[in-house]
Amino acid sequence: MAPSNPKEVSGRHAADLVQSGMTVGLGTGSTVFFTLQRLAERIAEESLQVRGVPTSVDTERKATEMGIPLASLDEVERLDLTIDGADEIDGDFQMIKGGGGALLREKVVASITEKEVIVVGRDKVVDRLGLGFLLPVEFVPFSSPTVAAVLRGLGSEPILRLSDGQPFVTDNGNHIFDCRFPEGIADARGLERAITHVPGVVECGLFIDLAHVVVIGDEGGTVEVREKA
Ligand code: 5RP
Repeated sequence: MAPSNPKEVSGRHAADLVQSGMTVGLGTGSTVFFTLQRLAERIAEESLQVRGVPTSVDTERKATEMGIPLASLDEVERLDLTIDGADEIDGDFQMIKGGGGALLREKVVASITEKEVIVVGRDKVVDRLGLGFLLPVEFVPFSSPTVAAVLRGLGSEPILRLSDGQPFVTDNGNHIFDCRFPEGIADARGLERAITHVPGVVECGLFIDLAHVVVIGDEGGTVEVREKA
């Protein structure tokens, strides 16, 4: 039976964009999980030749379990294609990412990718970023008070991300503030620049000019593919 879950149709559709011989960035999250599944099917059924570069320990584990060959960043210069999820994406393809905590490695991988394909359900497509989802900011634990103060000065309410009552620790050993912007984010480009300049901040979940294609899954099993002009 054809899938009707928007994440599944989107994730699987994007995996079909991969061609033999490609080096592919593997994003993180529940939508990319379906991409990994479909890639593993294609490797088994079509002898598809790919190397994947994972953006998180979680994706590395899942891809390994599924039999997807992996490479590390020091083995590749550029990636042909990356398939990743998003928490919000707007009409200009600017995004909030980092709901799964993998924003730093996701941004590094996106930065060396020829074509960044974003897989989402339609609920992630928004007019203005930050109204429905908090903006993740990864920071070095030592700098917590000073980073929080600057984030407040930028108009947000930073909330320390917890896991089982303890600060959530990223794959890089850092912590995350999820930042509420009561009016949403009017100037995503300017805000990204301002946040990433703060000493102690490692990365910000605003992804500016990094996405080229968005694959939007709908209830009922259809997809819409939008390409950046
Ligand atoms: C992880 C991310 C994910 O891509 C984002 O949270 C989307 O996840 P999902 O596909 O599970 O909704 O940025 O850091």
